[in-house]
Amino acid sequence: VGQPLADQHGRVIRYLRISVTDRCDLRCRYCMAENMTFLPRAKLLSLEEIAVIAERFIARGVTKIRLSGGEPLVRRDVGDLVRRLGRHVGTGLDELTMTTNGTRLARYAPEMVEAGMARVNVSLDSRDPDRFRFITRHGDVDGVLRGILAARDAGLAVKINMVALKGLNEDEIAPMLQWCIDEGLDLSLIETMPLGAIDEDRVDRFLPLTAVFDDLSARFPLARAAHRTGGPARYWRVEGTQTRLGLISPLTANFCDGCNRVRLTTEGKLFMCLGHEDQVDLKAALRAGGLPALDAAIDAGLAIKPARHDFRIESGAAPAVSRHMSVTGG
Ligand code: GTP
Ligand code: 5AD
Ligand code: SF4
Repeated sequence: VGQPLADQHGRVIRYLRISVTDRCDLRCRYCMAENMTFLPRAKLLSLEEIAVIAERFIARGVTKIRLSGGEPLVRRDVGDLVRRLGRHVGTGLDELTMTTNGTRLARYAPEMVEAGMARVNVSLDSRDPDRFRFITRHGDVDGVLRGILAARDAGLAVKINMVALKGLNEDEIAPMLQWCIDEGLDLSLIETMPLGAIDEDRVDRFLPLTAVFDDLSARFPLARAAHRTGGPARYWRVEGTQTRLGLISPLTANFCDGCNRVRLTTEGKLFMCLGHEDQVDLKAALRAGGLPALDAAIDAGLAIKPARHDFRIESGAAPAVSRHMSVTGG
Protein backbone atom coordinates (compact mmCIF):
# COMPACT_ATOMS: atom_id res chain seq x y z
CA VAL A 1 0.00 0.00 0.00
CA GLY A 2 1.40 3.38 -1.03
CA GLN A 3 1.24 6.76 0.66
CA PRO A 4 -2.34 7.95 1.27
CA LEU A 5 -3.52 10.75 -0.96
CA ALA A 6 -3.70 14.08 0.82
CA ASP A 7 -3.46 17.56 -0.66
CA GLN A 8 -1.99 20.83 0.64
CA HIS A 9 -5.36 21.93 2.00
CA GLY A 10 -5.81 19.01 4.40
CA ARG A 11 -8.19 17.10 2.14
CA VAL A 12 -7.92 13.35 1.59
CA ILE A 13 -8.68 11.96 -1.87
CA ARG A 14 -10.92 8.90 -1.81
CA TYR A 15 -12.89 9.40 -5.03
CA LEU A 16 -11.49 8.88 -8.52
CA ARG A 17 -13.58 9.87 -11.52
CA ILE A 18 -12.45 8.26 -14.77
CA SER A 19 -13.53 9.60 -18.14
CA VAL A 20 -13.29 6.53 -20.35
CA THR A 21 -14.04 8.39 -23.58
CA ASP A 22 -14.53 12.02 -24.57
CA ARG A 23 -17.06 10.93 -27.22
CA CYS A 24 -20.77 11.07 -26.76
CA ASP A 25 -23.76 10.11 -28.85
CA LEU A 26 -25.58 13.27 -27.70
CA ARG A 27 -24.65 16.97 -27.88
CA CYS A 28 -26.32 18.60 -24.88
CA ARG A 29 -26.38 22.34 -25.45
CA TYR A 30 -24.99 23.33 -22.05
CA CYS A 31 -22.20 20.74 -22.34
CA MET A 32 -20.95 20.74 -25.91
CA ALA A 33 -20.84 22.83 -29.04
CA GLU A 34 -22.62 21.34 -32.03
CA ASN A 35 -19.33 20.62 -33.77
CA MET A 36 -16.87 18.97 -31.45
CA THR A 37 -13.47 17.53 -32.28
CA PHE A 38 -12.77 14.35 -30.39
CA LEU A 39 -9.43 12.78 -29.58
CA PRO A 40 -7.92 10.38 -32.11
CA ARG A 41 -8.05 6.84 -30.74
CA ALA A 42 -4.25 6.58 -30.70
CA LYS A 43 -4.11 9.17 -27.91
CA LEU A 44 -6.34 7.26 -25.52
CA LEU A 45 -5.24 5.22 -22.56
CA SER A 46 -5.66 1.52 -23.21
CA LEU A 47 -8.08 -0.33 -21.05
CA GLU A 48 -5.13 -2.04 -19.36
CA GLU A 49 -3.55 1.34 -18.56
CA ILE A 50 -6.79 2.69 -17.11
CA ALA A 51 -7.05 -0.39 -14.92
CA VAL A 52 -3.43 -0.16 -13.74
CA ILE A 53 -3.86 3.51 -12.82
CA ALA A 54 -7.19 2.86 -11.09
CA GLU A 55 -5.70 -0.02 -9.13
CA ARG A 56 -2.82 2.19 -8.03
CA PHE A 57 -5.35 4.71 -6.71
CA ILE A 58 -7.17 1.93 -4.88
CA ALA A 59 -3.90 0.82 -3.30
CA ARG A 60 -3.41 4.41 -2.16
CA GLY A 61 -6.76 4.75 -0.44
CA VAL A 62 -9.36 5.53 -3.10
CA THR A 63 -12.62 3.82 -2.09
CA LYS A 64 -14.93 5.13 -4.79
CA ILE A 65 -14.54 5.04 -8.57
CA ARG A 66 -16.98 6.55 -11.02
CA LEU A 67 -16.75 5.93 -14.76
CA SER A 68 -17.95 8.82 -16.85
CA GLY A 69 -17.27 10.34 -20.25
CA GLY A 70 -18.34 11.70 -22.66
CA GLU A 71 -20.68 8.78 -22.60
CA PRO A 72 -18.90 5.82 -20.98
CA LEU A 73 -21.07 3.21 -22.66
CA VAL A 74 -19.97 4.25 -26.17
CA ARG A 75 -16.48 2.92 -25.45
CA ARG A 76 -16.49 -0.58 -26.86
CA ASP A 77 -14.40 -2.30 -24.17
CA VAL A 78 -16.06 -0.58 -21.20
CA GLY A 79 -17.70 -3.83 -20.07
CA ASP A 80 -14.25 -5.38 -19.61
CA LEU A 81 -13.17 -2.41 -17.49
CA VAL A 82 -16.30 -2.64 -15.34
CA ARG A 83 -15.64 -6.34 -14.76
CA ARG A 84 -11.98 -5.79 -13.94
CA LEU A 85 -12.58 -2.93 -11.50
CA GLY A 86 -15.64 -4.71 -10.12
CA ARG A 87 -13.31 -7.30 -8.62
CA HIS A 88 -12.20 -4.66 -6.10
CA VAL A 89 -15.68 -3.90 -4.80
CA GLY A 90 -15.89 -5.03 -1.20
CA THR A 91 -12.12 -5.27 -0.81
CA GLY A 92 -10.47 -1.94 -1.72
CA LEU A 93 -13.49 -0.24 -3.21
CA ASP A 94 -16.71 0.64 -1.42
CA GLU A 95 -18.30 1.67 -4.68
CA LEU A 96 -17.81 1.31 -8.43
CA THR A 97 -20.37 3.37 -10.28
CA MET A 98 -21.08 5.24 -13.49
CA THR A 99 -22.61 8.43 -14.84
CA THR A 100 -24.32 7.79 -18.18
CA ASN A 101 -26.74 9.47 -20.54
CA GLY A 102 -28.78 6.26 -20.57
CA THR A 103 -29.00 5.71 -24.31
CA ARG A 104 -27.33 2.27 -24.06
CA LEU A 105 -28.20 1.46 -20.49
CA ALA A 106 -30.87 -1.13 -21.22
CA ARG A 107 -28.27 -3.29 -22.95
CA TYR A 108 -25.54 -2.89 -20.30
CA ALA A 109 -27.46 -2.88 -17.00
CA PRO A 110 -27.40 -6.64 -16.35
CA GLU A 111 -23.65 -6.98 -16.84
CA MET A 112 -23.03 -3.91 -14.69
CA VAL A 113 -24.95 -5.50 -11.83
CA GLU A 114 -23.12 -8.77 -12.35
CA ALA A 115 -19.78 -6.92 -12.15
CA GLY A 116 -20.62 -5.48 -8.73
CA MET A 117 -22.18 -2.13 -9.54
CA ALA A 118 -25.02 -1.15 -7.23
CA ARG A 119 -25.90 2.33 -8.42
CA VAL A 120 -25.81 4.57 -11.50
CA ASN A 121 -26.50 8.23 -12.21
CA VAL A 122 -28.37 8.96 -15.43
CA SER A 123 -28.59 12.39 -17.03
CA LEU A 124 -32.13 13.36 -17.92
CA ASP A 125 -32.94 17.04 -18.35
CA SER A 126 -36.45 16.59 -19.74
CA ARG A 127 -38.98 13.81 -20.20
CA ASP A 128 -40.69 15.62 -23.04
CA PRO A 129 -39.59 14.12 -26.40
CA ASP A 130 -39.32 17.43 -28.27
CA ARG A 131 -37.57 19.24 -25.49
CA PHE A 132 -35.24 16.34 -24.87
CA ARG A 133 -34.32 16.37 -28.54
CA PHE A 134 -33.80 20.14 -28.40
CA ILE A 135 -31.56 20.04 -25.33
CA THR A 136 -29.49 17.05 -26.48
CA ARG A 137 -29.64 18.01 -30.18
CA HIS A 138 -29.89 14.27 -31.09
CA GLY A 139 -31.55 12.33 -28.35
CA ASP A 140 -34.55 10.05 -28.27
CA VAL A 141 -36.05 10.27 -24.81
CA ASP A 142 -37.95 7.00 -25.06
CA GLY A 143 -34.74 4.99 -25.33
CA VAL A 144 -33.32 6.77 -22.30
CA LEU A 145 -36.47 6.21 -20.25
CA ARG A 146 -36.37 2.52 -21.21
CA GLY A 147 -32.73 2.41 -20.12
CA ILE A 148 -33.51 3.99 -16.77
CA LEU A 149 -36.31 1.57 -15.98
CA ALA A 150 -34.27 -1.40 -17.21
CA ALA A 151 -31.43 -0.38 -14.90
CA ARG A 152 -33.79 -0.07 -11.97
CA ASP A 153 -35.40 -3.42 -12.79
CA ALA A 154 -31.97 -5.04 -13.03
CA GLY A 155 -31.41 -4.00 -9.42
CA LEU A 156 -29.42 -0.79 -9.79
CA ALA A 157 -30.27 2.20 -7.60
CA VAL A 158 -30.80 5.02 -10.10
CA LYS A 159 -30.29 8.72 -9.52
CA ILE A 160 -31.44 11.15 -12.19
CA ASN A 161 -29.12 14.08 -12.86
CA MET A 162 -31.02 17.10 -14.10
CA VAL A 163 -29.21 20.32 -14.99
CA ALA A 164 -31.59 23.18 -14.11
CA LEU A 165 -31.91 25.37 -17.20
CA LYS A 166 -33.82 28.62 -17.29
CA GLY A 167 -36.42 28.67 -20.05
CA LEU A 168 -35.66 25.05 -20.99
CA ASN A 169 -36.75 22.77 -18.17
CA GLU A 170 -37.62 25.04 -15.26
CA ASP A 171 -41.28 24.01 -15.33
CA GLU A 172 -40.36 20.32 -15.44
CA ILE A 173 -38.43 20.22 -12.18
CA ALA A 174 -41.39 19.60 -9.87
CA PRO A 175 -42.93 17.04 -12.28
CA MET A 176 -39.53 15.32 -12.55
CA LEU A 177 -39.38 14.98 -8.77
CA GLN A 178 -42.89 13.55 -8.76
CA TRP A 179 -41.94 11.08 -11.50
CA CYS A 180 -38.86 10.01 -9.51
CA ILE A 181 -41.07 9.44 -6.49
CA ASP A 182 -43.49 7.37 -8.58
CA GLU A 183 -40.70 5.29 -10.13
CA GLY A 184 -38.57 4.85 -7.01
CA LEU A 185 -35.60 6.92 -8.22
CA ASP A 186 -33.50 9.67 -6.64
CA LEU A 187 -33.06 13.09 -8.25
CA SER A 188 -30.11 15.47 -8.21
CA LEU A 189 -30.49 18.98 -9.54
CA ILE A 190 -27.36 20.65 -10.89
CA GLU A 191 -26.43 24.28 -11.54
CA THR A 192 -24.93 24.79 -14.98
CA MET A 193 -21.18 25.32 -14.84
CA PRO A 194 -19.01 27.38 -17.22
CA LEU A 195 -16.83 24.73 -18.86
CA GLY A 196 -15.85 25.05 -22.50
CA ALA A 197 -17.32 27.25 -25.21
CA ILE A 198 -20.87 26.36 -26.18
CA ASP A 199 -23.13 27.95 -28.76
CA GLU A 200 -25.04 30.15 -26.29
CA ASP A 201 -24.36 32.41 -23.30
CA ARG A 202 -24.69 30.38 -20.09
CA VAL A 203 -26.08 33.35 -18.23
CA ASP A 204 -29.27 33.02 -20.28
CA ARG A 205 -29.80 29.51 -18.92
CA PHE A 206 -28.52 29.83 -15.37
CA LEU A 207 -31.06 28.94 -12.72
CA PRO A 208 -29.89 29.28 -9.10
CA LEU A 209 -31.01 26.25 -7.11
CA THR A 210 -31.78 28.47 -4.12
CA ALA A 211 -34.97 29.63 -5.86
CA VAL A 212 -35.74 26.18 -7.23
CA PHE A 213 -35.47 24.71 -3.75
CA ASP A 214 -37.88 27.26 -2.26
CA ASP A 215 -40.41 26.31 -4.88
CA LEU A 216 -39.96 22.57 -4.32
CA SER A 217 -40.22 22.83 -0.56
CA ALA A 218 -43.59 24.53 -0.96
CA ARG A 219 -44.83 21.52 -2.97
CA PHE A 220 -43.12 18.51 -1.34
CA PRO A 221 -42.41 17.59 2.30
CA LEU A 222 -38.61 17.86 2.25
CA ALA A 223 -36.44 17.02 5.26
CA ARG A 224 -32.69 17.51 5.32
CA ALA A 225 -30.97 14.12 5.20
CA ALA A 226 -27.61 13.13 6.64
CA HIS A 227 -27.07 10.88 3.58
CA ARG A 228 -23.69 11.35 1.89
CA THR A 229 -22.26 9.69 -1.19
CA GLY A 230 -18.84 11.29 -1.24
CA GLY A 231 -20.05 13.46 -4.12
CA PRO A 232 -20.86 17.19 -3.99
CA ALA A 233 -24.65 16.96 -3.47
CA ARG A 234 -26.50 17.88 -0.29
CA TYR A 235 -29.58 15.72 0.22
CA TRP A 236 -33.16 16.01 1.36
CA ARG A 237 -35.63 13.18 1.87
CA VAL A 238 -39.08 13.49 0.36
CA GLU A 239 -40.94 12.37 3.45
CA GLY A 240 -43.19 9.38 3.08
CA THR A 241 -41.29 8.23 -0.04
CA GLN A 242 -38.08 6.36 -0.93
CA THR A 243 -36.82 9.33 -2.94
CA ARG A 244 -33.97 11.62 -2.07
CA LEU A 245 -33.49 15.04 -3.61
CA GLY A 246 -29.88 16.16 -4.08
CA LEU A 247 -28.73 19.69 -4.81
CA ILE A 248 -25.42 20.36 -6.54
CA SER A 249 -24.93 24.10 -6.24
CA PRO A 250 -21.39 25.04 -7.19
CA LEU A 251 -22.48 28.64 -7.84
CA THR A 252 -24.76 29.31 -4.88
CA ALA A 253 -23.30 26.99 -2.19
CA ASN A 254 -19.64 26.19 -2.75
CA PHE A 255 -18.63 22.68 -1.62
CA CYS A 256 -14.90 22.75 -2.39
CA ASP A 257 -13.84 22.59 1.29
CA GLY A 258 -15.00 19.00 1.32
CA CYS A 259 -13.45 18.05 -2.03
CA ASN A 260 -12.24 14.44 -1.99
CA ARG A 261 -11.82 13.84 -5.73
CA VAL A 262 -9.56 13.95 -8.75
CA ARG A 263 -10.27 13.12 -12.39
CA LEU A 264 -8.49 10.92 -14.90
CA THR A 265 -9.09 11.82 -18.54
CA THR A 266 -9.20 9.49 -21.52
CA GLU A 267 -5.78 10.80 -22.50
CA GLY A 268 -4.26 9.93 -19.15
CA LYS A 269 -4.11 13.40 -17.65
CA LEU A 270 -5.05 13.77 -14.01
CA PHE A 271 -7.05 16.96 -13.46
CA MET A 272 -6.96 18.22 -9.92
CA CYS A 273 -10.10 20.38 -10.05
CA LEU A 274 -13.06 20.62 -12.40
CA GLY A 275 -12.64 24.39 -12.52
CA HIS A 276 -8.90 24.68 -13.19
CA GLU A 277 -6.29 23.56 -15.70
CA ASP A 278 -3.90 22.12 -13.10
CA GLN A 279 -2.97 18.63 -14.25
CA VAL A 280 -0.27 15.99 -14.40
CA ASP A 281 0.37 13.49 -17.18
CA LEU A 282 -0.08 10.02 -15.71
CA LYS A 283 0.09 8.29 -19.08
CA ALA A 284 3.54 9.70 -19.81
CA ALA A 285 4.75 8.84 -16.32
CA LEU A 286 3.45 5.28 -16.45
CA ARG A 287 4.86 4.64 -19.90
CA ALA A 288 8.27 6.10 -19.01
CA GLY A 289 8.81 4.77 -15.51
CA GLY A 290 6.14 2.30 -14.43
CA LEU A 291 4.52 2.39 -11.01
CA PRO A 292 7.22 4.42 -9.20
CA ALA A 293 6.92 7.18 -11.80
CA LEU A 294 3.13 6.94 -11.65
CA ASP A 295 3.22 7.43 -7.87
CA ALA A 296 5.55 10.40 -8.19
CA ALA A 297 3.28 12.01 -10.78
CA ILE A 298 0.21 11.49 -8.59
CA ASP A 299 2.04 13.13 -5.66
CA ALA A 300 3.07 16.04 -7.88
CA GLY A 301 -0.58 16.46 -8.80
CA LEU A 302 -1.79 16.47 -5.21
CA ALA A 303 0.72 19.17 -4.37
CA ILE A 304 -0.95 21.52 -6.85
CA LYS A 305 -4.62 20.73 -6.19
CA PRO A 306 -6.39 24.11 -6.09
CA ALA A 307 -8.37 25.10 -3.00
CA ARG A 308 -11.55 25.75 -4.97
CA HIS A 309 -13.04 26.59 -8.33
CA ASP A 310 -13.93 30.17 -9.15
CA PHE A 311 -16.87 29.64 -11.47
CA ARG A 312 -18.89 32.73 -12.31
CA ILE A 313 -21.93 32.94 -14.52
CA GLU A 314 -21.97 36.46 -15.92
CA SER A 315 -23.14 37.91 -19.15
CA GLY A 316 -20.47 37.59 -21.81
CA ALA A 317 -18.01 35.93 -19.41
CA ALA A 318 -15.55 33.48 -20.96
CA PRO A 319 -15.81 29.94 -19.55
CA ALA A 320 -13.70 29.40 -16.41
CA VAL A 321 -11.78 26.74 -18.31
CA SER A 322 -11.70 26.15 -22.04
CA ARG A 323 -12.10 22.37 -21.91
CA HIS A 324 -15.59 20.92 -22.07
CA MET A 325 -17.23 18.86 -19.34
CA SER A 326 -16.93 15.84 -21.64
CA VAL A 327 -13.13 15.83 -21.28
CA THR A 328 -13.20 15.22 -17.53
CA GLY A 329 -16.69 13.79 -17.19
CA GLY A 330 -17.84 16.26 -14.56
P1 GTP B 1 -22.78 10.67 -6.42
O1 GTP B 1 -21.74 9.60 -6.21
O2 GTP B 1 -24.12 10.09 -6.69
O3 GTP B 1 -22.77 11.69 -5.36
O4 GTP B 1 -22.40 11.37 -7.80
P2 GTP B 1 -21.56 12.65 -8.18
O5 GTP B 1 -22.36 13.87 -7.96
O6 GTP B 1 -20.24 12.58 -7.52
O7 GTP B 1 -21.31 12.39 -9.74
P3 GTP B 1 -22.09 12.79 -11.06
O8 GTP B 1 -21.22 12.30 -12.16
O9 GTP B 1 -23.47 12.33 -11.03
O10 GTP B 1 -22.03 14.35 -11.08
C1 GTP B 1 -23.12 15.19 -10.84
C2 GTP B 1 -22.70 16.62 -11.09
O11 GTP B 1 -21.79 17.00 -10.08
C3 GTP B 1 -22.00 16.83 -12.43
O12 GTP B 1 -22.50 18.02 -13.01
C4 GTP B 1 -20.57 17.02 -12.03
O13 GTP B 1 -19.89 17.86 -12.93
C5 GTP B 1 -20.71 17.66 -10.68
N1 GTP B 1 -19.51 17.46 -9.86
C6 GTP B 1 -19.01 16.30 -9.40
N2 GTP B 1 -17.88 16.53 -8.70
C7 GTP B 1 -17.68 17.86 -8.75
C8 GTP B 1 -16.69 18.73 -8.24
O14 GTP B 1 -15.72 18.31 -7.60
N3 GTP B 1 -16.82 20.05 -8.50
C9 GTP B 1 -17.85 20.56 -9.20
N4 GTP B 1 -17.90 21.87 -9.38
N5 GTP B 1 -18.81 19.78 -9.70
C10 GTP B 1 -18.72 18.45 -9.49
N1 5AD C 1 -22.71 22.21 -15.99
C1 5AD C 1 -23.29 21.35 -15.13
N2 5AD C 1 -23.48 20.06 -15.37
C2 5AD C 1 -23.06 19.59 -16.54
N3 5AD C 1 -23.11 18.37 -17.07
C3 5AD C 1 -22.53 18.40 -18.29
N4 5AD C 1 -22.13 19.66 -18.58
C4 5AD C 1 -22.45 20.42 -17.51
C5 5AD C 1 -22.28 21.79 -17.19
N5 5AD C 1 -21.68 22.64 -18.03
C6 5AD C 1 -23.69 17.23 -16.35
C7 5AD C 1 -24.36 16.20 -17.20
C8 5AD C 1 -24.15 14.92 -16.43
C9 5AD C 1 -23.01 15.21 -15.50
C10 5AD C 1 -21.81 14.35 -15.65
O1 5AD C 1 -22.63 16.55 -15.72
O2 5AD C 1 -25.72 16.46 -17.38
O3 5AD C 1 -25.27 14.55 -15.68
FE1 SF4 D 1 -23.00 13.85 -23.63
FE2 SF4 D 1 -23.26 14.05 -21.05
FE3 SF4 D 1 -22.32 16.09 -22.37
FE4 SF4 D 1 -24.86 15.44 -22.69
S1 SF4 D 1 -23.89 16.14 -20.78
S2 SF4 D 1 -23.40 15.92 -24.33
S3 SF4 D 1 -24.84 13.29 -22.44
S4 SF4 D 1 -21.31 14.15 -22.15
